[in-house]
Amino acid sequence: MRNLAPLSLLLLSACAVPAATLQTAPLSSKATPMVSPVLASADAADPYSYARPEIARVTHVALDLALDFDARQVSGTAALDILAKTGADTVVLDSNGLEILSVKDRSGTALPYTVGAQQAGKGAPVTVTMGDARTIVITYVARNAEALQWLVPEQTAGGKHPYLLSQGQPTLNRSWIPTQDSPGIRQTWDARITAPQPLTVVMSGLTASPPVAAGAGRRAFRFTMDKPVAPYLIAIAAGDIAFRELGPRTGVWTEPVMLDRAAAELADTEKMVDAAEALYGPYRWGRYDMIVLPPSFPYGGMENPVMTFLTPTFIAGDRSLTGLVAHELAHSWSGNLVTNANWSDSWLNEGVTSYFENRIVEKLYGTRRAEQEAALSFASAEEALAEEGSDAPITALHLAPAQATPDGGAGGIIYDKGAVFMRTVETIVGREKFDAYLRSWFDRHAFQPATSAMFLADIRANLVKGDADLERKLMLDAWVYEPGLPANVARPQASAFAAVDSAAAAYGATGRVSKAAWAGWTTAERMRLLAKLPRDLSQQKLAALDADLGLSQSGNNEILFAWLELALGNRYAPAVPVAEKFLATVGRRKFVAPLFETLMKEGEWGGPIAKRIYADTRSGYHSVTQGTVDRLVLTEK
Ligand code: BES
Ligand code: ZN
Repeated sequence: MRNLAPLSLLLLSACAVPAATLQTAPLSSKATPMVSPVLASADAADPYSYARPEIARVTHVALDLALDFDARQVSGTAALDILAKTGADTVVLDSNGLEILSVKDRSGTALPYTVGAQQAGKGAPVTVTMGDARTIVITYVARNAEALQWLVPEQTAGGKHPYLLSQGQPTLNRSWIPTQDSPGIRQTWDARITAPQPLTVVMSGLTASPPVAAGAGRRAFRFTMDKPVAPYLIAIAAGDIAFRELGPRTGVWTEPVMLDRAAAELADTEKMVDAAEALYGPYRWGRYDMIVLPPSFPYGGMENPVMTFLTPTFIAGDRSLTGLVAHELAHSWSGNLVTNANWSDSWLNEGVTSYFENRIVEKLYGTRRAEQEAALSFASAEEALAEEGSDAPITALHLAPAQATPDGGAGGIIYDKGAVFMRTVETIVGREKFDAYLRSWFDRHAFQPATSAMFLADIRANLVKGDADLERKLMLDAWVYEPGLPANVARPQASAFAAVDSAAAAYGATGRVSKAAWAGWTTAERMRLLAKLPRDLSQQKLAALDADLGLSQSGNNEILFAWLELALGNRYAPAVPVAEKFLATVGRRKFVAPLFETLMKEGEWGGPIAKRIYADTRSGYHSVTQGTVDRLVLTEK
């Protein structure tokens, strides 16, 4: 049995205390215990941060930074408000590669500090002897920050101006912001950012005032986030970008030449926010804007509050890949409102969100599309289980610290098995009851970190309520702590893909896919077909598929990617130039890494191709993608 800690959240809710109160009335350790039962419980500790929040924690970050596109650096100050145990005189921050020039108190008196040893993936601790100061001001320079990607004009759609984008999750923000970079340590923040004309800056906070001239051909932009957020959610982008309104509280930023296509693809966004609210309660962040970034962005999307970051590769012209938007929007509840306390419980962010995403898709596009997408997700869970082995500890939802790399375990587990767990509970208790429960879970834990143990305690207290029969039916502990799929798993509708699955079965005999059938299929059905085709195909069969279905010319990047994986895995030479072009523009890791992996698996044929392509494309990728592909292509095995 798991130890279910009492759930008082005093330290965590203390983050709402304004800095001024902290200055004048230091909290006694009696009135506000610094050791929160949540953060102090073994389940909630974050091994990927040096912070010691039980002694002193950051509550607010005020940034004043200049963007330098020539030097590819960010420099300026970060003023941190600290909430500390009475008498505490040190605070430990996370950093990675920062050059710290000084640390001072509010009145400008220098404070002693040390930078500890650098650890791979974790960076270095900065220990500041703050005495009784409760605001510290750090002056620093961030060069080649891992979170930041500086693009040359050629990497943008407009081709005329440089571009900057950031990716904070999971532990990258410490490379440009010296703070406590742990998801359980929520912080409010504000920022003043200067950038050269004519670039525009956006951040994952509300715009506080219009840009003003800042001298030397620069402008200053101001942002504020008045809700305490996990620090991985602080994000920035800057470039030649313009805004288009989509609805009363929704809009999109992107390069001017992308604006029409982006706005058309995102036209359903306001309706998505309405749908999400109808499911799980009010959207609490004010605006929901998005930025469609250049294709080097390493993820499909990132749920930065009030400013979702999106890859342009989701634009298919027919809104068939907008589940991505539903997903990032859903994180406004599961992830941004209620946040995994550490990376062992990523499923609480990603699995709950994947389920929520599907519920939004159902409301917007109907049950058929939702069932098909749920069936694809289920297949991806099964694939991950087959790959890892259904008794492998890595296939549990809650991961032991040794297995929980912050970058996430297998997507098929955290995302897809997580979503299947939610679907299973829904099926057992009924949709109405489960929806009400999930909504109340978000309300009870709003703006707080959560662990698996907390979720299970909460579901027992508020949904199971001592019903022994229900408790037995749900198999909660098995779902969260054990590998594989528990016996009560709710499987997707078998009918979702009846037509494609029979076409895939017939392929073995005919060696052809009907052009007419393909033309009538949805994107999900086409993806299903490509996934169901035999993995080993002759050159002739591949040529026929490409000729019949126009796969190499597909304007849908999910289809193009699935085709390239299949083709390269069969050493199909005509696909190489297509893959090369794709890999030269797209930096989304989900696409890039498997294509290089496939090539590397094809030994003496694919290895040299992979190495040749990567030599050209590596410098255009974000560090997230570089890190993964380096291990695949550059490491001698
Ligand atoms: N929050 C994730 C991206 C992420 C996860 C970054 C873990 C770093 C560490 C985001 O919401 C996400 O899941 N993106 C997916 C979208 C998809 C599942 C619809 C992606 O990028 O492919
Ligand atoms: Zn996500």
